[in-house]
Amino acid sequence: MKVRAYLKCIIPSCGKRYPIETTRTFCDCGNLLDVVYEGSFTKSLIEVFYERRNHENNIFNESGVWRFRELINFTGTDSEAYDEYSKVFVSFDGAEGRTRPYEMTKVAEYVGMPKENVLFQPEGLNPSGSFKDNGIATGLTHAKMLGVKEVICASTGNTSASVAMYAANEGIKASIYVPKDEIALGKLAQAFQFNACVYQVIGNFDDALKVVLQKGREGAYIMNSVNPFRLEGQKTMIYRMLEYLNWNPPDWLVFPRGNMGNCSAFGKAIMELYEWGWIKKKPRFVAVDAKGSNTFYTLYNGLYNGEPLRWNNGNVNEDLIKDYYSYLDKNNLKPKTIATAIQIGRPVNIKKGLRSLEYTNGISVQVEDKDMEDGIAVVGSNGFDCEHASASCVAAIKKLVEEEIIKKDDKVVAILTGRLKDPDAMIKYHLGNNRFSNPPKIVRI
Ligand code: F0G
Repeated sequence: MKVRAYLKCIIPSCGKRYPIETTRTFCDCGNLLDVVYEGSFTKSLIEVFYERRNHENNIFNESGVWRFRELINFTGTDSEAYDEYSKVFVSFDGAEGRTRPYEMTKVAEYVGMPKENVLFQPEGLNPSGSFKDNGIATGLTHAKMLGVKEVICASTGNTSASVAMYAANEGIKASIYVPKDEIALGKLAQAFQFNACVYQVIGNFDDALKVVLQKGREGAYIMNSVNPFRLEGQKTMIYRMLEYLNWNPPDWLVFPRGNMGNCSAFGKAIMELYEWGWIKKKPRFVAVDAKGSNTFYTLYNGLYNGEPLRWNNGNVNEDLIKDYYSYLDKNNLKPKTIATAIQIGRPVNIKKGLRSLEYTNGISVQVEDKDMEDGIAVVGSNGFDCEHASASCVAAIKKLVEEEIIKKDDKVVAILTGRLKDPDAMIKYHLGNNRFSNPPKIVRI
């Protein structure tokens, strides 16, 4: 099956189109771009995807990203012609995206739901330890199509780890820009380990992204989530979740809010499937902010000046966003949370994120650092590993169940976005006086 794709401005009143052979990530009007496919997709592909689980030594069937290749195939290659697509698709030997939702009995008990009604998808099981591998596989495929020799990104640590890992495997140079002293050491270590060219920016993630976006305007290939081809791969998290649920969407989908790449990609996946008639219901999205980094929570819920920020058919109130950002600057307010992955004050995909929440009747909540720390411990007591940003989902579900916004007989899926790469924070928690501290016992001989 061959599919044709193009890029299109997300703002309906603009809608300008571009061919996919471009390194641009923004429309001439300054807004973000979507990958759009010509034609629609038949639901019988569900059987094809299922059969590929018996992968018969084809790494692209083994991959939880490329198994769904028809729905993300912007490359225009024939998805049934192995000799053709195997030269084009970038995969970490089939290892990415091999995840699905799991029941976690102890976590369910903690959040106050029956275990079969709340499922957690641990994307930390990806080869570089976070959900990013879903998107870097497709983003780097696009870069390779264009013959790019170097890719760049700003990162709170997981994007850079994933970009560095894939780039090393493909023989492409990776230049990464990370906020100095504000990323988990395990993530920084991965960038060194995979031989990336590391730049430490004196500032925070938002500053590092500014540097990278400027380099993008000068022609560099950006692997951040402004890259619409990267977001195509991130849609597969939704496909795997839905496949596990026999394509019956849950009532709620819960995930952390950072730069809003996931919110954008998940929303696009749901929009497409709903419009093709594959699913009959839209899960309500819950975007979770850390309280110390709550730009989106503040704007979406109208807590800055009383006016809630909305998609409004593409007519987003940009002045409200600008006003809020200059208020943050004027008062020198910087995002600060233990969940450094989502310590992001200016989510670059905010408009796509708003579009996703509108489409799914979504909500935005915030959670405290200590509740994320407890969340990690509870997920750990179930034998699963996740980082603070991911544990924000556990904290959010608990809170929403207590507030009876999520009902006990609702079906909930949460994306645990990455595994823990911040051992310092973990050890500090367990040596300290915390709810689930598990300090060591001293043995003297
Ligand atoms: N969870 C984890 C573990 C992350 O690393 C990130 C983002 C997010 C959630 C937020 O996702 O940006 O799609 O809203 N990390 C980026 C990075 C920013 O550079 O690794 P988002």
